[in-house]
Amino acid sequence: MKNPTNLLSSLLFFFLSLSLFQRSVYAQNAKSMIDVGVILDFDSWVGKMSRSCMSMALSDFYAVNPNYRTRLVLHTRDSKRDAVDATSAAIDLLKNVQVQAILGPMRSWQAEFVVEIGNKTQVPIISFSATSPFLSTIQTPYFVRTGLNDSSQVKAIAAMVQAFEWREVVPIYENTEYGSGIVPYLTDAFHEINTDIPYRSAISTLATDDQILEELYKLMTMQTRVFVVHMTGTLASRLFLKAKEVGMMSKGYAWIITDGLANMLPSMDSSVIHSMQGVLGVKPYIPRSNELINFTTRWRRKFRQENPEIDRIELNVFGLWAYDSIWALAMATESTGVVRAQFEKPLSRDNLTDLAAIGISKTGPKLLEAILRTSFKGLSGEFQLVDGELQSSAFKIINVIGKGEREIGFWTPAHGISEKLNPNDKKMYSASRFDLRPIIWPGDLTEVPKGWEIPTSERKLRIGVPVKDGFREFVKVDRDPHTYAPIVTGFCIDVFKAVMESLPYAVPYEFIPFDKPDGQSAGNYNDLVYQVFLHKFDAVVGDTTILANRSLHVDFTLPFTESGVSMIVPIKDDERKNAWIFLKPLTMELWVTTGAFFIFTGFVVWLIEHRINIDFRGSPSKQAGMVFWFSFSTLVFAHSNFLSTYLNSY
Ligand SMILES: *[C@@H]1O[C@H](CO)[C@@H](O)[C@H](O)[C@H]1NC(C)=O
Ligand SMILES: *[C@@H]1O[C@H](CO)[C@@H](O)[C@H](O)[C@H]1NC(C)=O
Ligand SMILES: *[C@@H]1O[C@H](CO)[C@@H](O)[C@H](O)[C@H]1NC(C)=O
Ligand SMILES: *[C@@H]1O[C@H](CO)[C@@H](O)[C@H](O)[C@H]1NC(C)=O
Ligand SMILES: *[C@@H]1O[C@H](CO)[C@@H](O)[C@H](O)[C@H]1NC(C)=O
Repeated sequence: MKNPTNLLSSLLFFFLSLSLFQRSVYAQNAKSMIDVGVILDFDSWVGKMSRSCMSMALSDFYAVNPNYRTRLVLHTRDSKRDAVDATSAAIDLLKNVQVQAILGPMRSWQAEFVVEIGNKTQVPIISFSATSPFLSTIQTPYFVRTGLNDSSQVKAIAAMVQAFEWREVVPIYENTEYGSGIVPYLTDAFHEINTDIPYRSAISTLATDDQILEELYKLMTMQTRVFVVHMTGTLASRLFLKAKEVGMMSKGYAWIITDGLANMLPSMDSSVIHSMQGVLGVKPYIPRSNELINFTTRWRRKFRQENPEIDRIELNVFGLWAYDSIWALAMATESTGVVRAQFEKPLSRDNLTDLAAIGISKTGPKLLEAILRTSFKGLSGEFQLVDGELQSSAFKIINVIGKGEREIGFWTPAHGISEKLNPNDKKMYSASRFDLRPIIWPGDLTEVPKGWEIPTSERKLRIGVPVKDGFREFVKVDRDPHTYAPIVTGFCIDVFKAVMESLPYAVPYEFIPFDKPDGQSAGNYNDLVYQVFLHKFDAVVGDTTILANRSLHVDFTLPFTESGVSMIVPIKDDERKNAWIFLKPLTMELWVTTGAFFIFTGFVVWLIEHRINIDFRGSPSKQAGMVFWFSFSTLVFAHSNFLSTYLNSY
């Protein structure tokens, strides 16, 4: 210790180097914090799910990429299911936090104005759940949709309508930006397959149960029985409960739900699922992967811990898109390099409102470009943006059965409907019901609804049938011994039923026997036919003959059985088998005359010739033979031979 100053300086040096070392370690670990805003409805299912998925995405991403220089910091705001709250949350994030990007808002009608603000301030607005096609990523380039837009599914819905040959469809949608956004696209898609939209039913999200009922009763009085429902889960739950109540979830009805609703099915109340039995739906196809299974398990555990009060909620595609959006944004910020948020303040403007004071983000354009370039394999499948939107690959077609849904087929833009995804690449685009697995329709039926019906409020067709004793194979009227209800059978009835069956729409009808209370016929066929003219019956089915004076009063169908006078005659042998058929063309007399003339000719020639011609001499038998032979020879030989003999003999 002879030089204390030396010791002091070495100690000082030690401390100095320690702090330098610490600072360099700190510098190595120092990450640029990138502020990102998140706007969600905290109290909605999707909001809760997306929030937990996002926070898991952050920790997963930086666990996989620990040496990245940037770190996303999420600033979450509640939009309280309100468009103004969503907008003010966005302004707050931009002005006070100076975020570089905003994830959300959740709903299309909340996003509408936020997207404009983002476009103006050049801050990317990334939404995975604002699916309305009204929000265009082309017109507002700073809007990025990391989900599918609603119009990407209309072709799949149209393909289903085409497969079941429905001619008319009624869309039922909520009267919001989200609900009506799909309608023009649906209309176009149905127009392409010659399906009409006779009516559109827009239901307000504020509608009372009575108003929903009123709308449903109106739909019941119309003829179309195929409905496409496009609305959020809350309104749809009420709609289906009411539809079940009024009997619209029964025989003859067909319901199709869009992906927004189909994605929510597993989280819906069991009473709602019960009222939705037989509904068809489309939803984006999510390829199964080990990462997805692993994530689902972890998410479920975490979500249960955080929200023990919610008992029925399943991870759906919105959660996966939220997860993938965070990954995409984290990758994009890393690739743009370490940047500090900088907003260029407007200089010449008065700072009248917060909006005017925000300015323009200088890092926005670079970040946007990086996001649009990002592509990777995410939980929801291939993440790649085209025109600022996720692209759809395939849709799953589902049928609501029992406690949940069943997959009955797929739709892809290239192959149309198929039972398996990419069955073989040679399959042409087709939409056939036979490519779908069996479907249970509303009312627990397996037979495909016709999609069209004479409204129930109208009366049934009254079909008169004759009551008679004979020919009961055609029409036979029996009475049920207990209820006295008529039981009508027979060939004519079968034909009529087959005709009604093959109509493209359903017409309810009932058979009314033409009889007196005692069961005897109330008149003959003329009287029966005349009842149609008197409007007692709408039609008559039976073995009615078409007569001139009957057709003065009614129109007849084409006859479908032969009737009238018949004759019984014995069957003759088939003449064509006779060996003598060649004689037929000439009568017997003519043949005999012809034969006689031959002999006569021979005789005359013999008479003249036998005195001078040596050929006609000899024994009588020879001379007779000559007569016949000469006649015969005229048939076969030319006479020159004879003539020459004759001439030679001179
Ligand atoms: C919606 O998505 C489809 C297919 O992904 C695309 O063709 C269409 O242009 C998109 N529409 C809008 C309005 O973004
Ligand atoms: C969005 O921003 C772009 C460029 O920043 C601009 O060309 C476009 O007009 C803006 N769109 C709207 C709807 O404001
Ligand atoms: C998910 O994967 C991680 C690592 O790959 C593993 O540590 C974890 O146990 C897995 N979780 C489940 C629920 O399988
Ligand atoms: C607007 O606000 C900014 C910063 O808050 C300030 O620099 C600027 O001078 C203000 N402009 C006017 C016109 O008040
Ligand atoms: C049709 O003609 C028949 C026989 O001429 C007659 O008995 C019957 O009353 C006529 N029916 C009608 C509906 O005029």
